[in-house]
Amino acid sequence: MITCKGNLALLSTAHTSLLIRADERQPKLLYLGKKLTGAWENASLIAPEYDGTGFEAPCSLFSPWGGTDFREPSLLIRAEDGSVAADFCLRSFGEAERTKPNGLPVSYGEDSCLRLAYGEKRLGLTLVLEFTPYEDSDTYSCLTFLTNERGEGVTIEEFASLQLELWGKDFSFTTFDGAWACERQRHTRPLNGGKCENASYTGSSSAFHNPFTLLTRPGMAVGVNLVYSGNHRTIAESDDSGRTRLITGINPFNFAWKLEKGETFFAPEAVFSFGHSDREVGLHMRKFVQEHIVRGVWKKRARPVLVNNWEGTYFSFTRERILNIARAAKEAGAELFVLDDGWFGRRDTDTTSLGDWTDYEEKTGGIASLADEVRAMGLSFGIWMEPEMISEESELYGAHPEWAMKIPGRAPVEMRHQLMLDLTSPAVQDYIVESVSKVLTQTKAAYLKWDYNRHMTDTFGQAVGGEYYHRYILGLYAVMERLTAAFPEVLFEGCASGGARFDLGILCYSPQIWTSDNTDARERIAIQAGTAAAYPQSTMGAHVSASPNHQTGNASALSVRFAVAAGGVLGYECDLSALPEEERAAIKEQIAFYKQYRETMQFGTYYSLGDVSGEWAGYITVSPEKDTAVATVAVLKKRTGVQNVRAYLRGLDEGALYRVSVREGAGVKEIGLSTGGLLMAGLRLDGIFDEQDARSANPVFTRMFVLQKL
Ligand code: GLA
Repeated sequence: MITCKGNLALLSTAHTSLLIRADERQPKLLYLGKKLTGAWENASLIAPEYDGTGFEAPCSLFSPWGGTDFREPSLLIRAEDGSVAADFCLRSFGEAERTKPNGLPVSYGEDSCLRLAYGEKRLGLTLVLEFTPYEDSDTYSCLTFLTNERGEGVTIEEFASLQLELWGKDFSFTTFDGAWACERQRHTRPLNGGKCENASYTGSSSAFHNPFTLLTRPGMAVGVNLVYSGNHRTIAESDDSGRTRLITGINPFNFAWKLEKGETFFAPEAVFSFGHSDREVGLHMRKFVQEHIVRGVWKKRARPVLVNNWEGTYFSFTRERILNIARAAKEAGAELFVLDDGWFGRRDTDTTSLGDWTDYEEKTGGIASLADEVRAMGLSFGIWMEPEMISEESELYGAHPEWAMKIPGRAPVEMRHQLMLDLTSPAVQDYIVESVSKVLTQTKAAYLKWDYNRHMTDTFGQAVGGEYYHRYILGLYAVMERLTAAFPEVLFEGCASGGARFDLGILCYSPQIWTSDNTDARERIAIQAGTAAAYPQSTMGAHVSASPNHQTGNASALSVRFAVAAGGVLGYECDLSALPEEERAAIKEQIAFYKQYRETMQFGTYYSLGDVSGEWAGYITVSPEKDTAVATVAVLKKRTGVQNVRAYLRGLDEGALYRVSVREGAGVKEIGLSTGGLLMAGLRLDGIFDEQDARSANPVFTRMFVLQKL
């Protein structure tokens, strides 16, 4: 809800409020916190005035370079003459209809916003900020854009999507960092009066630093994220006068955007949420993503249990082998078979054929008939592509070397023996749309795994210089927009060497993303917990793979691998047909169990449990009425002599009585009754160590519980 009084605006969600004052030169953030009640317009006693030095009024919602504010600016504009000062003045303020930005995906589900427009007279610019409250998820979005009304061409060198300035300098800065196969590991450090950065330089949102960032201090947390898949940067800067500035947006590294007369530049939409803890912010963010980012027919549709052949076969498969795996998948109760890399061109290794999206007939025996045969078994068919890439050894490269991203006169940097296509070129965009459409039509695929297996270098093509990175992402979104509109029933799963592009931009087109190439259960617990800090479980592809694990060499019990993978959208990634009979029977039971509780597991409210760096961790998913819950607890360390570990459940109805059962095969075995309140005070994990997998040197112990309200 948005209410304006004088130059004040109160934006409220179910449990939080945001109070903004439209001052003459900058809008001010008066309050972000617990929902305000009563006569909130009496805000003069909390309104920020001047900092200790008397220079700049604090708590501004944007800060152009050029005045006496020497902290990180949210806006740096270079005029034609080389000067970089901008002075804005309030033009208008009030409730308005949200603007739809050109070329960028944004959240949906609310139509109105608080719009603040500020004009820059000398440069002829208008800066607009639009804040939208999302009632149901206690989240706010901010869309910021700059229009060159009448001036000379100006160059935008820094343009934050959002600036929040909070009172206090004792915040901690939490980020979700990693690399290939260890994405989104949580790291927290105190700001200590200093400045911290969370940014990506790879051209994508990256496995190194996810754009989701948290500022916390006891009793308070603010999370921010961007609806963007390119280079991002979030900075938190605290200072001696006792305030902390948080800025998030496109990374200004190698960014310079020429804004000609009449043009508008949209910064990617930013989202933010206040909670009393980072866990509460996580709840808000997951709900927001589920309700206002993920879209299309798959938004709330049960996600199929899939079997993917990648770790089962890698590149060396035959039609027969694929069909055997598909048969075993059907027998186990899976619903979708996904043919991964290796089915096109002459793709027997990763050195060749990207871009040649034509059937490798000698290997597949005909991709269309293979897909038909899979469907005839009663499975749907899905396929892998890596549409943004090109191998130098390909027909496409022979025909269109100029479509590869490279700098004239310089040997391009290769990663995984491949180059990227120049998506800033409309011809390349058309080629991708055509080739993906052709494959989807030819195979009638119900699912597409859209992979992206390298970082961006040699950023040069139809666009150049400081515009390249962003124009690439606009090209990507244009392509995805066209394809998702043309194939609305197809389930797209994003992938980038695992989870190197796990962000809100991709989630606007792909309802789920392959979380990580690391399928080791122990390591997955931390990867999934870090991902779930901001993204719901229905967005996280999670597979059971072979033991010992191919990435880490660790062995783990099949039940443990299932318990962990069931924390996301469940799949299997191994040669099911080659597994011993008893393992196939166990998988059949796992899938039957998962299907029975899938609604709650995929779309229920997700709470993380325990601590991945501690003794135990896990998750619980709770149905909206709190009448069904499924909890998985993993004990990560067995301490000699310690038999009695407790799991503190969350999200249950305190006073209600629950029947507590443990998973046993496809069903459950009741172990007793307890109230939600008692279960949240600590459920004993009796006997959990009895199920040790003899092959593991350092085993993880898991138990899955089902709780039904009586
Ligand atoms: C990436 C993906 C994997 C698999 C391979 C195929 O690494 O993350 O899941 O699809 O590519 O080459």
